[in-house]
Amino acid sequence: MVVFVTPMYYFGFSSQLKAVIDRFYAVNGRIKGASKQSAFLMAYANTDPKEAEPMISHYKTLLNYLGWKDRGMVIAPGMWPAGAVQNTKYSRQVYELGKSL
Ligand SMILES: Cc1cc2nc3c(=O)[nH]c(=O)nc-3n(C[C@H](O)[C@H](O)[C@H](O)COP(=O)(O)O)c2cc1C
Repeated sequence: MVVFVTPMYYFGFSSQLKAVIDRFYAVNGRIKGASKQSAFLMAYANTDPKEAEPMISHYKTLLNYLGWKDRGMVIAPGMWPAGAVQNTKYSRQVYELGKSL
């Protein structure tokens, strides 16, 4: 299983996560169509759900290309400043997602 975890940086994945994904290219033939599962965890400061859509679409398109099965997403808006996730429903959602696997 592969879990993609990133904050939103200018409506996209962090460059750190993108660098990892770009390294997939070296092993594309081995990972494409492999029997893998995946999840997506993303936090952002704003609260408009529309602003999360490009990243969700990117994740789904990547998974569709790779042929991997999505096991769930947790999208956490309003994550500003540091520590904002404390006492929100998102920590619980991630916990429940992990438990469901
Ligand atoms: C370079 C940079 C770009 C960001 N771009 C956005 C953005 O486009 N939309 C948004 O809502 N928040 C944006 N943020 C805020 C982060 O997504 C948000 O604070 C997130 O919770 C940070 O997660 P972290 O504490 O794990 O780094 C940006 C933050 C940084 C540092």
